[in-house]
Amino acid sequence: MILKNNIVLIGFMGSGKTSVGIRLSYSLKRPLVDTDKWIEQKQKMTVADIFERDGESAFRRLETECLKALIKDADRQIISAGGGLPVKEENRKLLKQLGKVFYLKVSPETIYERLKTDTTRPLLQVADPLRQIKALLEEREGIYESCADVTLEVSESTFDEIIEQMKGLV
Ligand code: S3P
Repeated sequence: MILKNNIVLIGFMGSGKTSVGIRLSYSLKRPLVDTDKWIEQKQKMTVADIFERDGESAFRRLETECLKALIKDADRQIISAGGGLPVKEENRKLLKQLGKVFYLKVSPETIYERLKTDTTRPLLQVADPLRQIKALLEEREGIYESCADVTLEVSESTFDEIIEQMKGLV
């Protein structure tokens, strides 16, 4: 059940949610909220430091807290959700209430190429990040699809193409 008229972006790390969100925000003149940034501002810590100090489950609780705050406050905004946020069922319900959910679907190889030198994603600081990406994507693919109102395969798309496509759907 949709309660609010936001545009919600979901997808794996490196799928382009933040970059698409920034461009969409500019193009539609709507504010952008990034759940990772919301949490970092509230906690005055980076996501990586929260994972290290308090663990992943503490971070996941903060994600739910963030969604509950957005349900109260956010309307006609663009919301970019952290890649693992939809994994929790409670969060999927909250995401759906927030607005129309777009899943930016990207291949594991594209994600790997984009993130192979990134040090900010704790879940990818492992010996074989491509293998980890594939394993997590396998777990999450169906979850993303079931949460989304619209799935956009964007591995081969330019940002302009994605924005035009999305503007036709909102
Ligand atoms: C995570 C994705 C990250 C961030 C955290 C965990 C995940 O967000 O929330 O590192 O579990 O996929 P982005 O998808 O914005 O990178």
